[in-house]
Amino acid sequence: MSDSLFINACYNKNTARPPIWFMRQAGRYLPEYQALRSNYSFLEMVHTPSLACEVTLQPITRFGFDAAILYSDILVISEAFQLHFDFIEGKGPQLRESQLSVAEIATSLAKQPDVETLSYVYDAIKLLKPELKETPLIGFSGSPFTVACYLIEKQSSKTFSNIHSLINSDPDLLHTILDRLTAVTITHLSNQIKAGVNAVQLFDTWGSILSGTLYHDFSLAYMQKIVSAISAYNIPIIIYSKDTKHKIKSLASLNCNVISVDWDTPISSLITHYPTLAWQGNLNPHTLLKSLPDSLKETKLICDSMKESQGFIFNLGHGILPKTPLDHVKAVVDYVKG
Ligand code: CP3
Repeated sequence: MSDSLFINACYNKNTARPPIWFMRQAGRYLPEYQALRSNYSFLEMVHTPSLACEVTLQPITRFGFDAAILYSDILVISEAFQLHFDFIEGKGPQLRESQLSVAEIATSLAKQPDVETLSYVYDAIKLLKPELKETPLIGFSGSPFTVACYLIEKQSSKTFSNIHSLINSDPDLLHTILDRLTAVTITHLSNQIKAGVNAVQLFDTWGSILSGTLYHDFSLAYMQKIVSAISAYNIPIIIYSKDTKHKIKSLASLNCNVISVDWDTPISSLITHYPTLAWQGNLNPHTLLKSLPDSLKETKLICDSMKESQGFIFNLGHGILPKTPLDHVKAVVDYVKG
């Protein structure tokens, strides 16, 4: 992997060109994904290593991205506590055990997790490694706070009223939940690394709903524990954060290798302020829905602004959208590679 553009960029080394991959690159915008998906549910695909392997490879085969990301989800980790999410078309994830109160969810999380339940994730990684040859594989987890948001809200939320009221009414219970999730996340990431992933990304999508000390206490502090534990494996650690504008300084203090940002902040200004870190991003995924010239124009702007910088990984600021035209993706990949 020492020749990998992606791994070298993660370590802030000079690369001949920026590596490129897209969050959610294996997904519904691909006809070959939709063809498989019409025969299986999302969870069936995630739970079956041969299918997860096939789907992970699809965008690599079609576009030649510089890194693969394992086809899985941040919410499967709750299966280790016998809590399950169903993924319902148009509605997003829904906690199957929806009758449970917050206290009962906390009780489930306080039990010893059965991480063996997640062995299909590690089996998929083992299947993928020989198929990927020299293309690095990214493993991942959600940040404890992001996963807790789904467990406490029991589904996707716009207001996050349950988690906000828990912060106010029983912060200690939330800390207990986050402690349990942190421990299992460290085990889950360690197992992915032992199975063969070459880098890991921690998705802190909903840290964005917190500010100031709340963000520090309920999200950042737990990510710090994970980064400290995972650093022992000497592979790159990427933190993804959304609505990051006011959080960059805190994120930069985490001692991770790469920070992946949304499109709110010009990535060139970040690299100037934090030159020892590598940066990943940050094309707005909505841009790819516009015309091909628009997609290329924005791509060129980002690449030009980063021309003099090492430690840059071209990506989107959030996951690729299902209606994204394939030729726009191809044009952007070819541009960055060229
Ligand atoms: O990036 C990748 O391609 C790797 C696989 C991956 C998925 N989800 C597959 C998926 C990764 C890294 C995730 C992360 C994830 N999952 C996050 C953090 C990143 C982010 O998007 O903010 C979150 C919050 C989730 C939870 C989740 N999973 C939601 C809210 C949804 C429903 C919305 C949607 O996009 O459909 C999912 C389902 C999901 N996870 C799909 C995929 C490919 C769609 C499945 C399908 O219907 O085929």
